[in-house]
Amino acid sequence: MDFSSKKDKKIGIIGLGAYLPEKVLTNKDLEKMVDTTDEWITTRTGIEERRIADKNTPTSELAKEAALSALKNAGIVAQDIELLIVATITPDMTFPSTACLVQNKIGAKKAACFDISAACAGYIYGMAIASSFIKAGLYKNALVIGAEKLSAITDWSDRNTCVLFGDGAGACVLSEVENDGILSFSLGADGGQSDLLKMPGGGTLNPATHQTVDEKLHFLKMKGNEVFKSAVKAMADAANDAVKQVKLGCKDISCVIPHQANQRIISAVAKKLGLDEQKIFMNIKKYGNMSSASTAVALYEAANEKRIKKGDIVVLDAFGSGFVWAACVIKWNL
Ligand code: ACO
Repeated sequence: MDFSSKKDKKIGIIGLGAYLPEKVLTNKDLEKMVDTTDEWITTRTGIEERRIADKNTPTSELAKEAALSALKNAGIVAQDIELLIVATITPDMTFPSTACLVQNKIGAKKAACFDISAACAGYIYGMAIASSFIKAGLYKNALVIGAEKLSAITDWSDRNTCVLFGDGAGACVLSEVENDGILSFSLGADGGQSDLLKMPGGGTLNPATHQTVDEKLHFLKMKGNEVFKSAVKAMADAANDAVKQVKLGCKDISCVIPHQANQRIISAVAKKLGLDEQKIFMNIKKYGNMSSASTAVALYEAANEKRIKKGDIVVLDAFGSGFVWAACVIKWNL
């Protein structure tokens, strides 16, 4: 989707927000829970610690805090939001949507609300949907939130997965802007790989029974090293496609904000794109993989830490269960 060629309207981010639960779970803590070591986790993934929401805090609460922070940053109020999208694979419930729950919590009474399920690429997919609505003239301001409570679907006795994930939320307000803003999106999927990363229980295929609980089907399952290879290729291809659409090359990129699943994946993507790692924003050591919240929180932190500045070419890039992948090129307008 080339957004730059349609000269009539430019869409950009006008505010960013994030929320991370206070509780920190370190690699040393995990050493006491499963057969692992701080050294294995750090060298294989780059993760040092992650945040864990408490038992009574659902995803919508994390999303609410990120949303309020983004609204404040944008200088608008909840009533100004006309579209509210939550990207999540850990909704409070199958229905109603977490977006509706967030709408009620923040008082965004005028907003149309729905969730999208695009795993780690969900935030960028959500931005693409919201931008298209604004471009089409249906809405003025949209709130896109990536929010996850992955700790609730993590098998804390499985060392293959439990060391990887954490909880958090990030959000942006999208609106029409005068200059620059979003230039392009590249979205893709390969449903043929859906078995490699999934939560098998709780849907209509395996509705919850005592047996599904005993068989641990309500936890995330992943064939890590197969996912790894696909992630590197898909993220590099998506970023390349998104920059090419607007006649740019990787040399023009000022900063890549990648999904934070594994530091080695990020380094391999940087290498494939021919980019110096200095141009890649990483916060994986603090939070681990927060699925849809990862790119959202990383973008928020990159902006706050002044790693991106007005006029920079910023690329968001993500890959996740589905498989799905997405990249977005933004000429930073804030
Ligand atoms: N501590 C110690 N040893 C471990 C641990 C652990 N926590 N986990 C696995 N191991 C062992 C394995 O049992 C295996 O041992 P073996 O050789 O005796 O069988 C060995 O370490 C190597 O295991 P691999 O799975 O081959 O390790 P790998 O280097 O591939 O790293 C990892 C695993 C970190 C999961 C990596 O493959 C990865 O990051 N994959 C991609 C994740 C991703 O991108 N997910 C997509 C987004 S997530 C979403 O959509 C929700």
